[in-house]
Amino acid sequence: MTTTLNELKLLLDAEALELSGFCGQNFENLTAREVEAARIRYCGKSSPLHGWLTSLKNFPADERKSTGALINQLKAKVEQQFEEFSSRFGTFDEDRKLALETEDLSLPLPQIHIGSRHPVAIAARQLVLPLQKMGFEWIDGPEIESDFFNFEALNIPKEHPAREMQDTFFLASDWVLRTQTSSVQAHAMIERGVPLRIVCAGYTYRNEYDMTHVPTFRQIEALVIDKGIHFGHLRHTLSEFFKEVFGRPVPLRFRSSYFPFTEPSAEMDIQCQQCHGAGCRSCKNTGWLELGGCGLVNKKVLKSCGVDPDVYSGFAFGMGVDRVAMSRFAVSDLRALYEGDISFLSEFGLT
Ligand code: FA5
Repeated sequence: MTTTLNELKLLLDAEALELSGFCGQNFENLTAREVEAARIRYCGKSSPLHGWLTSLKNFPADERKSTGALINQLKAKVEQQFEEFSSRFGTFDEDRKLALETEDLSLPLPQIHIGSRHPVAIAARQLVLPLQKMGFEWIDGPEIESDFFNFEALNIPKEHPAREMQDTFFLASDWVLRTQTSSVQAHAMIERGVPLRIVCAGYTYRNEYDMTHVPTFRQIEALVIDKGIHFGHLRHTLSEFFKEVFGRPVPLRFRSSYFPFTEPSAEMDIQCQQCHGAGCRSCKNTGWLELGGCGLVNKKVLKSCGVDPDVYSGFAFGMGVDRVAMSRFAVSDLRALYEGDISFLSEFGLT
């Protein structure tokens, strides 16, 4: 059956009318699936428009051009109208989805539990932060250390008996695993110059193993070098520091001691937090836990690090982080922290 030009005009008008009817609909009654179906219906390959275009060949040759123009006109109109309609519907549909959404995408994700911090890592952080708040700059230093930085620069020459006290792990000629973070004192003075106010925390190594000694442990070291520094500055800094670390005043005592790199020197002990001074197994019945040493920087150390001792003075203190963790978490045997017992370690939780 062939269609005449007049019939086709009527069909095209009807198609245009039907499309405007569809596009004039209230968006609320439409779904995205219906809009897609309409696109296929009006603009797709099986649409009447497409059919009319392919049937052009059936029109008499003299009418083909004007008929083609008519169909193409409608095709352009349909496509444009549909495009505008789809983009307005798209925005509406997006708003509708957002309005229905009940999830708040700006909320932070629930915390994923991936393990616990090691109690010694927690203690290290709790020791470093108060010092940083007090204006100490955090610096790092090497764990494989030259004999010069670990001993010589700290006034511990070869054959000095103080070397014996530190059960050193020796490496190839003149290299050691650092026995103390005090080696960072010399690095800081030589490499940064003075004045200085630094804190360093890191691994240290000694060939020891018992309830309060492990071969790999951590120390924290603080050093201040400036003009006019005296023992009062050291005492005040330490008492403020411990108050902040323990969140309450903890009895602290100084015992006169000897370190080759400080003069005068003292050992710092805090009251045992297991027995509160009464005496127990973990404090070897003394009621006190030795945390570390402190003192005014020895003038010989200042000199060997290129600092003029007639102009500058300083104080330093260093302590075992593992011992602080023992005290903080009431652990009676330091070795328990290194046995890799996850259920025991996870009791200390994330901080
Ligand atoms: C020193 O290492 C000095 N460098 C501390 C110092 C710094 C003094 C600055 C003066 C000025 P000492 O050898 O006492 O000192 O060790 C310090 C602390 O490290 C000890 O009190 C203890 O808390 C801890 N410590 C030492 N050896 C071990 C070990 N094997 N296991 C666990 N903790 C240890």
